[in-house]
Amino acid sequence: MTEAARDPRTVYLADYRPWSHLVDRVELCFRLAPKGTKVAAKLHMRPNPAARGRHVLRLDGEGLRLITLKLDGALLDLTPDETGLTVPADLLPECPFLLETEVAIDPETNTALEGLYMSRGMYCTQCEAEGFRKITFYPDRPDVMARFHVRIESDLPVLLSNGNPTASGEGWAEWDDPWPKPAYLFALVAGDLVAHRGGFTTRSGRSVDLAVWVRPGDEDRCAWAMDSLIRSMKWDEEVYGREYDLDVFNIVAVDDFNMGAMENKGLNIFNSKYVLASPESATDDDFARIEAIIAHEYFHNWTGNRITCRDWFQLCLKEGLTVFRDQQFSGDMRSHAVKRIEDVAVLRARQFREDQGPLAHPVRPESFVEINNFYTATVYEKGAELIRMLKTLVGDEGYAKALNLYFSRHDGEAATIEDWLKVFGDATGRDLTQFALWYSEAGTPRLKVAEAWQDGSYTLTFTQETPPSPGQPVKAPKVIPIAVGLLNPNGDEVLPTTVLEMTGATQSFRFDGLAARPVPSILRGFSAPVVLERETSADERAFLLAHDTDLFNRCEAGRSLAREMLIAGLTGGEDLLPAWRDALARLIRDDTLDPAFRALALRLPSEDDIAQALHQRGHTPDPAAIHAARRAAGDALAQALAADLPGMIAGLGAGRFAPDAAGAGRRALRNAALALLARVDGGAAAQSAFAAADNMTDQTGALAALLDIGQGAAELARFRDEWGHDANVMDKWLSLQVALAAPDRAAAQAETLAADPGFDWRNPNRFRAVFGALSGHHAGFHQAGGAGYRLLADWLLRLDPLNPQTAARLSTAFETWPRYDAARRDLIRAELERILGQPGLSRDLAEMAGRMIA
Ligand code: PHE
Ligand code: ZN
Repeated sequence: MTEAARDPRTVYLADYRPWSHLVDRVELCFRLAPKGTKVAAKLHMRPNPAARGRHVLRLDGEGLRLITLKLDGALLDLTPDETGLTVPADLLPECPFLLETEVAIDPETNTALEGLYMSRGMYCTQCEAEGFRKITFYPDRPDVMARFHVRIESDLPVLLSNGNPTASGEGWAEWDDPWPKPAYLFALVAGDLVAHRGGFTTRSGRSVDLAVWVRPGDEDRCAWAMDSLIRSMKWDEEVYGREYDLDVFNIVAVDDFNMGAMENKGLNIFNSKYVLASPESATDDDFARIEAIIAHEYFHNWTGNRITCRDWFQLCLKEGLTVFRDQQFSGDMRSHAVKRIEDVAVLRARQFREDQGPLAHPVRPESFVEINNFYTATVYEKGAELIRMLKTLVGDEGYAKALNLYFSRHDGEAATIEDWLKVFGDATGRDLTQFALWYSEAGTPRLKVAEAWQDGSYTLTFTQETPPSPGQPVKAPKVIPIAVGLLNPNGDEVLPTTVLEMTGATQSFRFDGLAARPVPSILRGFSAPVVLERETSADERAFLLAHDTDLFNRCEAGRSLAREMLIAGLTGGEDLLPAWRDALARLIRDDTLDPAFRALALRLPSEDDIAQALHQRGHTPDPAAIHAARRAAGDALAQALAADLPGMIAGLGAGRFAPDAAGAGRRALRNAALALLARVDGGAAAQSAFAAADNMTDQTGALAALLDIGQGAAELARFRDEWGHDANVMDKWLSLQVALAAPDRAAAQAETLAADPGFDWRNPNRFRAVFGALSGHHAGFHQAGGAGYRLLADWLLRLDPLNPQTAARLSTAFETWPRYDAARRDLIRAELERILGQPGLSRDLAEMAGRMIA
């Protein structure tokens, strides 16, 4: 039994009940003030026939000063408690009625960035998951959907809310949202903002006014966000048949934001970091991420808003699906292979890591204490993998049929995973009982492979096993789509990609009539989120790296070769370094290959990945040794390629910056080559590249190459002179210095940067820039003696009273503790206990620390 399950505040999926009432319409009036904002609410309600019998009316509300409360015009004298307000059943009519409240709140002192808060003089809201209860008394749950009318009174020039603008005058504006929605999609913005405008005509002819709202001075960095929005709107029409449904679509950039962005109906609110971009200030990765997040939030209009979640346990219903949709979109905009390689790298780094530690939970969890702690890689990224597998299993046509049925059957509803799977069952006739296990069981399945060859017959035998996870000791076999291809020893493909459906614990598949024993390419495109455990020779991996027709698996062969080489080096195995180095050098020199692909293939597995793999094989990872081994491998490759690198760098350079995939690929390979060259030329090439850089990708690429070899002091100073006025750009300056510090310097570097009086640690982007980088520095964070652990815990405790949500997120740095030696485990345990012992600790951080320690 986990800590979460013992907490009296635990919420259980099994306890779901429909709400007692229905809300037909909500009228809200805001009189904005930094202190004492008045929120008047009129809730037009009636008893919910689905909740039989007479019920009290329970409204959620936190930190609200109740001024008046009226039922059908008559004053009620009731006192709210800590978490809400109860109207006794005998006061409530059994027909439609009107409940009116007026409350006061203080956006100025709201540092948690949930509810109505202020960010650099502008008012904004964040209501997902349970922030609306900090704005007014309301049934703050996603299955209560209502039509909202909003009036805002303020002297600020720009006043925005959801839906369409209906009227405005000096100091006020009114908005009406015709689409029923849950409270978590409510949004309000008021500020001195400027718009970058655009337009879109939907395929049925609705003309939509688009705007990206930013603070004055930022308007020249909005074009990419607008362009991405328009492409997203078009793509959703073409690929999913989904049209936009309002007259306006607004995006607002705010500097203080806990997450990436939020899909509020018609009024998306973004972390400014994911909106603002120019070639000078944003890297190729920033451009790609902005494109993906703009698309993600836009796609939520159908998958999340028109069809929402019945309760927060169903979070993956909107998030997994919407991540999958944004991945498809980015693949269509760029390169599918490159996108897939990048997505799987993120999945392994974040979700596999989560799935193997104390925070492992199913894609659809069954209990939680604080829902904000469940916006996880498992819900999002593994959630997206489940959609991808479903599509593989039912085929493209089946998927299209199922999605059309989903949209027509559930439009306007708050749905569940059962509804989602039933749509697939009904549309395709497929029984998805076994597939549903993917939603309810945590843990990453291990897939072992055995091969047999006899008389032209080749047999692959797979065995699956999912390790235990908190609260789930035993796992059943899952349905696993395994995409396989077979190659002849001469490199020809004898079996093109074929999907094998594994349903048992052990299962064999035979391929007959082969002339020679083939080389298998297994799990092409990463057809299932599993750990493939296949023992094979370095030669065969090098063969696949050279010949596989599936680009994902080609890259994967290089990655597994590097992993085996590093692990062998660390555990006293065979010296695979020459084999790896030579195979990679051949690949890098191959100009027929997409530079983006070559850049990815060059990436060594991260130190955290290596630690994860060592732990899986029963070794205790030594962070310092892993760091040294990985550096030595990089040095060896740099030496092998030393003569080629200057020419490569020159050949890939220059040209006007455009944020497209081809240009980004060239810059990525060039920066990878520059980092290698720095290992052998003492940084000379990187210094001149820094001096010549005319875009942020080249500038940070050169700076990183220098910091990585312990240089770059002058460049750091120049970077600060150039960008000191721009906090989002300076986050790169902060992160790089921590991420690339020598292991024994990383914690001290973070401490020094955070001690600077100009460091605004209350801003989540700043905090993450330094402390996210520290926890991502494997050897630095896990430095013997525990300085990294202590520093992070100190700062989490400092942040927690102000912003529990962000503090809790960053605490996941500790989730890998079971992998390490007893000394490190004790040090981490001591920090987690220190956190848990803090008086007044937030529910958010208490749940996380408690689950990690359990
Ligand atoms: N729903 C947002 C998204 O996925 C994420 C989010 C959650 C933002 C909670 C803020 C708060 O796009
Ligand atoms: Zn989302």
